[in-house]
Amino acid sequence: MAEAMVDPVVTPTQPETLRRVSEPAQLRSAIRRWRERGLKVAFVPTMGALHAGHLSLVTRALQTADRVVASIFVNPTQFGPNEDLDSYPRSVDSDCAQLQETGCHLVFLPTVETIYPPGGSTFVVVEGPSKGFEGAERPGHFRGVATVVLKLFNLVMPDVAIFGEKDAQQLAVIRQMTRDLHLPIEIIGAPIVREADGLALSSRNVYLDADQRRASRVLSRALARAESAVRAGERDSQVLEQLVRSELDHEPTGKTDYVAVVDGASFEPLTDLNGFRGRLVIASVFRLGQTRLLDNLQMDLPLNPKPLTDSDRFSS
Ligand code: PAJ
Repeated sequence: MAEAMVDPVVTPTQPETLRRVSEPAQLRSAIRRWRERGLKVAFVPTMGALHAGHLSLVTRALQTADRVVASIFVNPTQFGPNEDLDSYPRSVDSDCAQLQETGCHLVFLPTVETIYPPGGSTFVVVEGPSKGFEGAERPGHFRGVATVVLKLFNLVMPDVAIFGEKDAQQLAVIRQMTRDLHLPIEIIGAPIVREADGLALSSRNVYLDADQRRASRVLSRALARAESAVRAGERDSQVLEQLVRSELDHEPTGKTDYVAVVDGASFEPLTDLNGFRGRLVIASVFRLGQTRLLDNLQMDLPLNPKPLTDSDRFSS
């Protein structure tokens, strides 16, 4: 007689306990044990003060790997001398609670001395995509980012690493470094998470006062106008740039640092989008008081290439 079919027992998936580690040796041995079991490891580097944007990267990581490692490290080398290193928001306990809730397996919390041992003198300079825009506005910024990300990659040795498209130029720099240095790591970009009114989530949004918070909406609105224009067929970069600028000018309390229409891979400016195949990025920085709001819109061109129909194929 055939065996009776038994329903599999469904156990509710409890979030596993998040392991906190600050020593490289502990990190390496935890990851080695996973690797010995053939598990795939994903990595999400952050500077903490976590919000739903960061957590979306963890969720994306869980879709692609068996184990997810996050890091929280406010990296001093990517801050300029007049930037907010000392006042950068720090909230490790609530960060860890959110990571645990999201299903992250391990968080690496190194000290500055661990990442930058005294006497160190090696830095990573990625040319190409780090030259303009944020690279020009914040000298040394991408050198600091590339250096810390390579150090973290070497400590974690993940199969895949997830970065937000929010920092589109940073993502281009990391992809370039990974390719140039033959790192065996897949880099995945994840979409921007926004507030209901369009403002891209950022750890620095806490610096905005109520008036600035209201004014901040103009940035995503301006980029959305450019997106509609591209969808309607506009292919002249200058027209698109002007469109974003004129929308931003409606908000007199802020100042436009730049509007850039670029190839998302190289961060080289694009002039004519006709014939361009790849990821179009329209990136902008809008300043409200001391706060630089960074946002962008990304589209793959050409838009929805129309598949040929039989009547296209066979019409004479
Ligand atoms: P941080 O600003 O903490 O951001 C960590 C990651 O979260 C980055 O990949 C960033 O692009 C992503 N992120 C931030 N806001 C987001 C949003 N609204 N939607 C989606 N993703 C978002 O970027 C850094 O830290 C550092 O430069 C780092 C890479 C950790 C190196 O120090």
